[in-house]
Amino acid sequence: MSHRFSRTALALIPLAFAVASCRHGGARQTVDIGTYLGGEASLVAATPVFGAHGMVASNSELASAAGTEILKQGGNAVDAAVATGFALAVTYPFAGNIGGGGFMNIHMADGRAAAIDYREIAPLAATRDMYVDPATGKLTNKSLIGHLASGVPGAVAGMADALAKYGTLPLATVMAPAIRLAKDGFIVDSSLFRSLRGNRAVAQFAGKELFFPTGEAVAPGTRLVQADLAHTLEIIAAKGPAGFYTGEVAEALVAEEKRGGGIITMEDLKRYKPEWRTPIRSTYRGYTLFTMPPASSGGVTMTETMNILENFAPLPRFGSAGYTHLLTEAFRRAFIDRNEKLADPAFVKVPIEQLTSKSYAKELASGIDRAHATKTPAFKVAAEPEHTTHYSVADAKGNVVSTTTTLNGGYGSGVWVPKGGFFMNNEMDDFAAQPGSPNMFGLVQGEANAIVPGKRMLSAMAPTIVLDKDGSVLLVVGAAGGPRIITTTTEVILNVIEHHMSLADAMRAPRLHHQSLPDTLRYEPGAFSDAVADSLRAMGHALQRTGGLANANGIMRVNGGWIGVREPRSAGGAVGY
Ligand code: GLY
Repeated sequence: MSHRFSRTALALIPLAFAVASCRHGGARQTVDIGTYLGGEASLVAATPVFGAHGMVASNSELASAAGTEILKQGGNAVDAAVATGFALAVTYPFAGNIGGGGFMNIHMADGRAAAIDYREIAPLAATRDMYVDPATGKLTNKSLIGHLASGVPGAVAGMADALAKYGTLPLATVMAPAIRLAKDGFIVDSSLFRSLRGNRAVAQFAGKELFFPTGEAVAPGTRLVQADLAHTLEIIAAKGPAGFYTGEVAEALVAEEKRGGGIITMEDLKRYKPEWRTPIRSTYRGYTLFTMPPASSGGVTMTETMNILENFAPLPRFGSAGYTHLLTEAFRRAFIDRNEKLADPAFVKVPIEQLTSKSYAKELASGIDRAHATKTPAFKVAAEPEHTTHYSVADAKGNVVSTTTTLNGGYGSGVWVPKGGFFMNNEMDDFAAQPGSPNMFGLVQGEANAIVPGKRMLSAMAPTIVLDKDGSVLLVVGAAGGPRIITTTTEVILNVIEHHMSLADAMRAPRLHHQSLPDTLRYEPGAFSDAVADSLRAMGHALQRTGGLANANGIMRVNGGWIGVREPRSAGGAVGY
């Protein structure tokens, strides 16, 4: 198997450490993370950007600018979110997409809350054991790389539906910046260059002439024009989702599937439908959270974690052994449930009410020993790194949108659709490809998440909106990073509302991750002192120091406007006005 598709070898997007500067205005809170942490924490700086009217924060400054352009034209946050989503498909092909799927969480200023699930689904010809080698009984890597790895894409249908229901502008208007970026091109920066260079296996499929014109990744400073993608986007802009799910784009997609032994058909594309869902509404110490329900595990797992923690509030100070221990034990319990019980609700009965109830959390909290780590039972499930992208949008009226979208792995399955000009996802790998036994990465997946035609694979995406105690929007946040999406999003929120950090500090604060199995507490450098590490080991925690855990982009309401902060550990940009 190639280096690119060894999940443990996948690096987070190249780090781009920015110099901290607050361009305008001030953050709502004043506690500096530097008062808690020394040394390595200062390696990660954050760039807060102020906008009096609106804000977009994403992993591509050009895509954020596309969203802001639509806000300036009078579009609302949903218009801008759809503009940003299509622009990310052009400028951030690592995870931005039209060949993948995602989840959008919407909160309108008039109080309406909605969530749209445009997760990919298993093709009609998918089978439970399609990734198991019949000769050896072992898992192949076909859920990760190549034509069989893709679910039926949902991104175009989902974004168009969100726009139709909550936007104010025509699809062609909000897609205009993306079409321009594809047609006229944009200047490749070092981040895209390094991302392509680090994912050279992309070149084994079509698209290599575009991204590796001389055999090397397209160099920084080069203008990257994507004529096929521009053509596809123009068709979608003119015809709506029918321009993607039927007609020449669909035919190009299906022809490439057939050529490479994939199973997605015209019928699969024609049948794809996004699902409107009711966001999970929960509270934490007077704040209200709107999070994503299944087919993502993000909202249930975050809610369960925060409900457990609420029993110990106010929490011990950031960086202390007490805080780290409680956070770990809460994550452990929530992930045990996540891994066993969550899946596509159209196929599996998911106990959402119970898992998100305060009484259940109280019961779980009562099992936490304040001085000792609990061991995770051996048969529970684990999950590993994936690459995704989150963006947050706010407008002048107070409408906000929190969206996470993905191809799953960086550049998805590596399959690029000729004439279509886009990468296909490898989302089928988010299913339990061999329920009940470890896969080739040592992961054990639950029966609830087994492959069934038409089923959505379980996600960890957690686009979240937090309301202040007075009911106004406080935070719009989410992350990329597979299961670390859940822990990072929770931690950014806790950093703001428990530890009184500014958004910039909340985003750059070193992160922790525990997902029940492996039974290891992963932590970024500077998360706690050596003395605290010793205490945690004495309590029974296995510690593993690690690099950047996830990739978040957030917005916070402040006096007079919005502060946007893009992931300090990675590339991107917040653009306000
Ligand atoms: N593919 C990453 C996720 O959905 O969690």
